[in-house]
Amino acid sequence: MSDSPARRILVTSALPYANGSLHLGHLLEMIQTDIWVRFQRSMGNECYYICADDAHGTAIMLRAEKLGLTPEQLIDQVHAEHEGDARDFLVNFDHFYTTHSEENRYWSERIYGALRQSGQIVTKNIIQAFDPEKGLFLADRFIKGTCPKCKALDQYGDNCEACGATYTPNDLIDPVSALSGAKPIHKESEHYFLDLAQSTQLLTEWINSGRLQSQVANKLKEWLDAGLQGWDISRDAPYFGFEIPDAPGKYFYVWLDAPIGYIASFDNFSKARGLDFESFWFDPKATELYHFIGKDIVNFHGLFWPAMLHAAGLREPSAIYAHGFLTVNGTKMSKSRGTFIRARTYLDHLSPEYLRYYFAAKLGPSVDDIDLNLNDFVQRVNSDVVGKIVNIASRCAGFLNKRFDNKLAATPDSALLSALLDAKSTVAAQFEGRDYNRAIREIIALADRVNQFIDEKQPWVLAKDPSQSDLVHSVCSEGVQAFRILISYLSPVLPEMAAKSAEFLNTTLSFKALESGLLPAGHQLNPFSPLMQRIDTSQIDKMIESEKADAPAELTKPETQSKAQSQTEIDKIAEEIDFDTFAKVDLRVADIVAAEPVEGADKLLRLTVSLGDSERTIIAGIKSAYDASTLVGRQIVVAANLAPRKMRFGVSEGMALAAGPGGEDIFLLSPDSGAKAGMRVK
Ligand code: MSP
Ligand code: ZN
Repeated sequence: MSDSPARRILVTSALPYANGSLHLGHLLEMIQTDIWVRFQRSMGNECYYICADDAHGTAIMLRAEKLGLTPEQLIDQVHAEHEGDARDFLVNFDHFYTTHSEENRYWSERIYGALRQSGQIVTKNIIQAFDPEKGLFLADRFIKGTCPKCKALDQYGDNCEACGATYTPNDLIDPVSALSGAKPIHKESEHYFLDLAQSTQLLTEWINSGRLQSQVANKLKEWLDAGLQGWDISRDAPYFGFEIPDAPGKYFYVWLDAPIGYIASFDNFSKARGLDFESFWFDPKATELYHFIGKDIVNFHGLFWPAMLHAAGLREPSAIYAHGFLTVNGTKMSKSRGTFIRARTYLDHLSPEYLRYYFAAKLGPSVDDIDLNLNDFVQRVNSDVVGKIVNIASRCAGFLNKRFDNKLAATPDSALLSALLDAKSTVAAQFEGRDYNRAIREIIALADRVNQFIDEKQPWVLAKDPSQSDLVHSVCSEGVQAFRILISYLSPVLPEMAAKSAEFLNTTLSFKALESGLLPAGHQLNPFSPLMQRIDTSQIDKMIESEKADAPAELTKPETQSKAQSQTEIDKIAEEIDFDTFAKVDLRVADIVAAEPVEGADKLLRLTVSLGDSERTIIAGIKSAYDASTLVGRQIVVAANLAPRKMRFGVSEGMALAAGPGGEDIFLLSPDSGAKAGMRVK
């Protein structure tokens, strides 16, 4: 038995943006973190898991505006949704707060004040693109135009989706604001910078401290070697965030107050719980601090964050644990393929523990990407968890209940059980090192041995011979003891199944509890109830279908969740509308009377449609699927009372409704002899 004192640990996951739903990529991170936290508690350590919504910034301000909400209303709604999603994936936050809080304002001002005090804040005038119509400075991703390299139209201001070129918005041909379509002008304004070069020494030591994964440390070293630039930490009004105390009209950039949200969330939590906040943020000897993050945000956590903490006299993190990105079936998650799976869509069709197990079986300590292969997912969960782990308990429980009063027999000198208990230190080290895939492999190999033992002893055959009753009792007891050890090892991954098992085993399950060895002879069990159902592939199909059905009808949007673009997904998630609002949409069947390609646009057709009483021009992104000449005489459904919209290639006076995954597969209404031009659809 170990007498080492319990460790005191504070753990965080990155704070998801409050402008959209959680998807399985977010869950990869939360589940990785949650397993680690549950493991720490299972070892008897004091461990807190803190998160929050990242509630500030332009994207959230614009999304709220688009939905007709105040930013506060939007972030409240999203907060409730995120919290519910995480809870239903059994992610056990101690606190899920928001960066839009008084504690966060306090800590942001305090850290900024310390940086300013120590001369690390400098100001500089910069010239930026400005949308004169919206009255907003435009980040690169809010500017669109023609790629200077391959001339692809409608490309974002930082990189080209078509040829992969990267550039600045200044290089774009015919740039327009993605928000209003207006031509951006150049405007000067004063910005506040964190002069990171002053932290070069500090950051060099930090990067070489062994607290970072080698891949991450190498990347950070590259940036360091290139010379640290000042980091722009201010944004001009209008901005949803905290105003900088000594700079009216200037706001803290969202990425300044986001990591400070870790402190603020814990501050709020420790007040409610009477915890010693100070020892977690000021005393690295007494406590440990870990940040779990995705590989896309290592610069914020690996460079800016230590510099900010240091200036304010706060402790450094004990380590930063970065993970790779989630892909589905080997490629980037895609809305049109239905693999951009939102947390709630998954939960509507499948149990959270399936995914927790699969992620654990794939996650290692590196920043390599993780693939969710849906066939492999079904197969792994069904064969490992249901077929191997649950099977052990279900094969033994019935005999014990029916014949032996549900009491365990003594199982002295079981080499099998000793081997299982001996694996504890190995498995624990693997969890500690985030080497979950190896822990799972180890546990499943042990389960194979147990199943083999039961196969050899064949209690179901022995049970037919009354003289073998004692042997049946001891074989089944050995099986149940083995099950207890294995499910203890899996408890950080499968908390619900572990809770049900604890009920059956009539004991508490943890790594710590295994220190006292096996359950005693005569231990009373409770009746066994099924622990997990097999996955049926039809559940997967339904989930994919339902995401596909929700994929946005607009077909020219990039399908991506990269850092830069996740913020531009401001219009991707449909607002819920009431029936009256829907009833205002005048959906009509229209005859196509003329169709032609739009000159200079590679995705657009200009349609002239007749509504019986009038004609309309509609610009539709359906050129990839239809030859203009084949459309004349066919009928489509149009939203007829949409306000005319000025697009880059002319005015569109309605919207053609279509379905399909995109590319060549976009379907308008097929010819239907019963439909009359101008007839209302509803
Ligand atoms: N708000 C910032 C983080 C601030 S932390 C002080 C942010 N938000 S995010 O919603 O875009 O991402 C939250 C976390 O989810 C990040 O760690 C990010 O790496 C992770 N992931 C987002 N998409 C992901 C995948 N497809 N796969 C794995 N993780 C991904 O960044
Ligand atoms: Zn290009």
